Amino acid sequence: MRKTRLSLALASLIGCSVAAQAHAGEVEVLHWWTSGGEAKSAAVLADMLKARGHGWKDFAVAGGGGESAMTVLKTRAVAGTPPAAAQIKGLDIQEWAKLGFLTELDSVAAEENWDTTLPGVVTQVMKYNGHYVAVPVNVHRVNWLWVNPKAFEKAGAQVPKNWTEFVAAAEKLQAAGIVPLAHGGQPWQDATVFEAIALEVLGVDDYRKAFVQHDAATLKGAKMVEALERFAEVRRFIDKDSAGRDWNLATGMLLRGEAGMQIMGDWAKGEISAAGLTPGKDILCVATPGTEGSFTFNIDSFAFFKLKNDADKAAQQALASTILTPEFQQVFNLNKGSIPVRLDSDMSQFDSCAQDSMATFKSANEKGTLIPSWSHGLATTSQVQGALYDVLTKFFNDKQADAVATADLMARAVQSAQ
Ligand code: BGC
Repeated sequence: MRKTRLSLALASLIGCSVAAQAHAGEVEVLHWWTSGGEAKSAAVLADMLKARGHGWKDFAVAGGGGESAMTVLKTRAVAGTPPAAAQIKGLDIQEWAKLGFLTELDSVAAEENWDTTLPGVVTQVMKYNGHYVAVPVNVHRVNWLWVNPKAFEKAGAQVPKNWTEFVAAAEKLQAAGIVPLAHGGQPWQDATVFEAIALEVLGVDDYRKAFVQHDAATLKGAKMVEALERFAEVRRFIDKDSAGRDWNLATGMLLRGEAGMQIMGDWAKGEISAAGLTPGKDILCVATPGTEGSFTFNIDSFAFFKLKNDADKAAQQALASTILTPEFQQVFNLNKGSIPVRLDSDMSQFDSCAQDSMATFKSANEKGTLIPSWSHGLATTSQVQGALYDVLTKFFNDKQADAVATADLMARAVQSAQ
């Protein structure tokens, strides 16, 4: 089914490829999509670009969340040899643009009406001083709890809607010999879990105050202390081998029923589908406890670096244009687990989790509960994000750590990283 759709999409692009071949260029594309579902999705983009007659040089840097990829990107940029396109997100796009590295995409954007086909919350992230310098690929929802229904049935547990129910379900799973929460002990995964917990305790307004506006009083306030205390409780629900585990291996534990739940963005759905399972049926998707109706968004995007060679520049513009075609949006997002970024996308082929995600994205946008994920770089710069990662990971791994002192440390770390 998917292959057919992809072939159709590719066939529709062949027309463009004949004209483009005369000026064939190549783009080197840096990304961190290396898990099963992610790699399948990246291949869709590579194939569609090749169908337009251009070359794709894959520059994949393993490491979920992209920390390693960003380190490699900085080295290449400093050496004067950045790739043509790189997966860069959120406020970091502005930082790279400010440093003069990025090229403008305004003509493709105008030709294809990005201003009207894309939501404002997305376009504002892609622009620097009013000019497009990046193109959005998708919208991921981060505050998802994935549930293995068979494991829950075996344990006699109920799908949790709030923290108290989460603890009750986790204890039942544990009593049945099932790991309650599949987790990989890496800073960004710790942060993904904490972000979800903090959203329930703080609520949308204080989440914004703390993680978007960096208000010190909220960062070190009583609610943050409570969020940290809950986070500390999670330690007893993960297995002893979680340290350093990649997120997709944790998802594997969930799929096999070794674990009952995972808190992870919907890229986890890419793994569920790649394993031949149906999201929403074989593995359930619900909002993380206490966050129903809120949507922590994470937008993947590619920023485009200044190039010298004209053929490569043409390839770069072709890549930008491919990304926002309805064909690419459909096939890519079906594989990736995200939802299309175009408002006019046809959702009929998507699973129930994606349909729920799209509906919540739109309703949250109207209600004011659409909030940027700081753990995935949409709320703040990578410096602030990194500072928070450090404090939270240290806290999570140290059973003696004190929540009050840690909240204070969070406020200070954020302040000095700004
Ligand atoms: C990215 C996703 C990716 C995930 C795991 C997130 O930050 O936005 O595209 O699948 O990290 O690598």
